[in-house]
Amino acid sequence: MADLHITNATLADGRTGIDVLVAAGRIVDVAPRIDATAARTVDAAGLLLAPPFVDAHFHLDAALSYGIPRVNRSGTLLEGIALWGELKPRLTQEEIVERALAYCDWAVGKGLLAIRAHVDVCDPRLLAVEALLHVKERVAPYLDLQLVAFPQDGVLRSAGALARVERALTMGVDVVGGIPHFERTMADGAESVRLLCELAARHGRLVDLHCDESDDPQSRHVETLAAQSVRLGLQGRVTGSHLTSMHSMDNYYVSKLIPLLVEGGVAAIANPLINITLQGRHDTYPKRRGMTRVPELMAVGVTVAFGHDCVLDPWYPLGSADMLEVAAMGLHVAQMTGVDAMRACFDAVTVNAAKILHLDDYGIAAGRRADFVLLQARDPIEAIRLRATRLRVFRAGREIARTPPATAVLDLPGRPHEVDWRLPPAAGAR
Ligand code: FE2
Repeated sequence: MADLHITNATLADGRTGIDVLVAAGRIVDVAPRIDATAARTVDAAGLLLAPPFVDAHFHLDAALSYGIPRVNRSGTLLEGIALWGELKPRLTQEEIVERALAYCDWAVGKGLLAIRAHVDVCDPRLLAVEALLHVKERVAPYLDLQLVAFPQDGVLRSAGALARVERALTMGVDVVGGIPHFERTMADGAESVRLLCELAARHGRLVDLHCDESDDPQSRHVETLAAQSVRLGLQGRVTGSHLTSMHSMDNYYVSKLIPLLVEGGVAAIANPLINITLQGRHDTYPKRRGMTRVPELMAVGVTVAFGHDCVLDPWYPLGSADMLEVAAMGLHVAQMTGVDAMRACFDAVTVNAAKILHLDDYGIAAGRRADFVLLQARDPIEAIRLRATRLRVFRAGREIARTPPATAVLDLPGRPHEVDWRLPPAAGAR
């Protein structure tokens, strides 16, 4: 007998009336009206059953530290970096663990079950690395935490940082990180990309660099990243995070750069909430948006994900682990309001992000781990519009979070008693 039988679900690819059968924590069948008996049946009532949300870019060592030791008054990137510098020496392992676990609780409640977190390795004690390795183990039964060794102060600019990146890898950190645009010179930035890609190739690890998080159109480290990927044969294993300078680059140069990213098999991660608030700060008007060229990259087949980047930390005073909020902001900033474009924004916080993290067990298909989220929405577009309630969150076939449906009870003469902001079915034909 199966353990769980989900009936009458709509899937993100548009299939409706679908059943999902689960046994021993894994999906055994996905088909219309499966005839089976299971210990538990859940009627999806035609709502969207999606694979879990995946955050491809986050800083878990800083999350939920808002106000410690003070808040970022100006809200700028530079004050944020200064504030992080003040906070770092005060951090204790216990505090990092406690905040990270609390954030993972928030994530689970929002159906976010995989996070790639950049952990700062510029502290010689590698306190945050130890703390987050511990957290990774603690949350493993319910959340996939992938760690990136991130030399926040520059792998060349910060003495000993390259050795610490390597030490973090041997301790169990998964991915090689970097920040070429923060090195002292363009040449150092390029050199850092070479060193980090070679390190990743040597250790057989993925690469994910904070790359060109700047409004400077001359910040072209992404070009070096793609070229190193080609040279070292790292296609499909390399990601450029932020890539905001691409927003400001000359179109002619970009017409050469994008094919190079394709040749290098480089994926891209935009962080819409952070890019729209931190970029363009030196502009008066017009004020640049500063998010990378998402639809143009998607159009040529580059895998593009949206990350949350920050929640309640020195750089960002808002956020709640809601990847639908991230998708909504990305959609607006990139003006992706076409039907396919809106669906692509949902993919950017689910399947695309999972591909970047190399989550091989991901997706609603037979044989995969039974991880999924039942949303109070009928399709991905409605899910983004409503930041839909995560009615039920499942991990390996077990329900690990539940939220009551969002409705308002009305008291209006001659009007319905309840409203849930979904289009009536007749008007909602798409
Ligand atoms: Fe970041």
